[in-house]
Amino acid sequence: MNVGNEPEMRVLFVCLGNICRSPTAEGIMRQRLDAVGLAGRVAVDSAGTGPWHVGDPPDRRAVAAAAGRGYDLSPLRGRQVSPVDLVDFDYVIAMDENNLVDLRSMADGRCELLDRIALLGDFSARHRGQPVGDPYYGGTNGFDRVLDMIETCIDGLVVDITERLDRA
Ligand code: 4NP
Repeated sequence: MNVGNEPEMRVLFVCLGNICRSPTAEGIMRQRLDAVGLAGRVAVDSAGTGPWHVGDPPDRRAVAAAAGRGYDLSPLRGRQVSPVDLVDFDYVIAMDENNLVDLRSMADGRCELLDRIALLGDFSARHRGQPVGDPYYGGTNGFDRVLDMIETCIDGLVVDITERLDRA
């Protein structure tokens, strides 16, 4: 039971730049949690493994594609993931295999931290083992494919979190 205002679960989405895929996941997740009444119980953030876009807003193509489906990414700003995030977040969710490798190397062999790291595709039966492909160097329809896959996977993630909250 939540007796204070502290979130009971924390979710961090991680990609390379933190301007395309992971902010998109953050925006979708915030809206889904709001829709199922869990926004106050689950904290959401996103970060990049690379340093290039710290402080930057999301890529304008990602903002436009998300806005077309009712998600507002405009307040989000880039930050770089750090080892302490593995301690602070219950779910640290990678978009692709490179992100997974980088995150696992930050866990320093600690099993309890490695267990928090997952691939987003693994939350959907349809996308199990698949990466969310990087749309940065592609055309605008890449951003719609990213949205399609992330929406599907986040439905599965919300079920996973709901079950975990119910067990707690
Ligand atoms: P993201 O896409 O990882 O989905 O945010 C990228 C954004 C920027 C760069 C690479 C990937 N970059 O090299 O600047």
